Amino acid sequence: MTEIPDRLVEIMKRSSKIAALTGAGISAESGIPTFRGAGGLWEGYPVEKVATVEGFYENPELVWKFYNERRINISKARPNRAHKALAEMEKMYDMWVITQNIDGLHTMAGSNNVIELHGNIWRVRCTYCDYHGENMEVPLREIPPKCPKCGEILRPDVVWFGEPVHMMDLAFKIAEESEVFFVIGTSAKVHPAASLPFIAKNNGATVVEINIERTDVSIIADFILLGRATMILDSLLQKLKEA
Ligand code: OAD
Ligand code: ZN
Repeated sequence: MTEIPDRLVEIMKRSSKIAALTGAGISAESGIPTFRGAGGLWEGYPVEKVATVEGFYENPELVWKFYNERRINISKARPNRAHKALAEMEKMYDMWVITQNIDGLHTMAGSNNVIELHGNIWRVRCTYCDYHGENMEVPLREIPPKCPKCGEILRPDVVWFGEPVHMMDLAFKIAEESEVFFVIGTSAKVHPAASLPFIAKNNGATVVEINIERTDVSIIADFILLGRATMILDSLLQKLKEA
């Protein structure tokens, strides 16, 4: 079991601006598969077919079937102790969560300052008109679902490869201003999200990585806490409360 270094607790005690970049690993213990690695979500589904605009227009049914399955799985998932620990930390710090996840679990856990870089699986938008909305139907009655305004097909309001991520300017600003920057459960392979820890580091932040294995971020991390996100964030929160 990884011990939380006292030095990290000391640094956090005198910091006020904290941010956490999270990825699929933080939701793994809620039963949502990660993307890369054994049993990963992309396994069996060619990424270019289900996570690009081109793939969507080529076969909207296939893409919506894939998202329908993910929606069914995510609808059963609940925030775990890692999501909840970050929500608790928001009460102690000027804190932001910047997530690559589309499952909405940070908000469900009680975090208010959340940037969903890759969108949200419960949101949809029209491929033709300006309609944006929420669609919580599980499973979907109609595949592909149609726009209530114009009748054209809807798409998931998530970010696919090649598309611009949401709220990146704010995310850059947060990374620049953070005193402690956590990188939790992400392989840090997908940019621009993966560049945020480097920006934070260049601007003087203490970078703390929490993952079950080392990643490309490890070389710049001031602390590498190897282990499951729930265990580590639980212990960290405990130590912060005691300190
Ligand atoms: P990945 O699947 O690439 O990485 C998940 C990371 O979580 C890995 O580094 C694992 O070691 C780690 N991990 C797994 N279980 C963990 C646990 N219990 N505690 C801590 N860490 C754990 O997922 P992301 O980095 O989120 O984008 O992937 C980034 C983006 O690539 C996704 O948002 C998605 C994908 O393609 C789009 O769809 C645009
Ligand atoms: Zn429409």
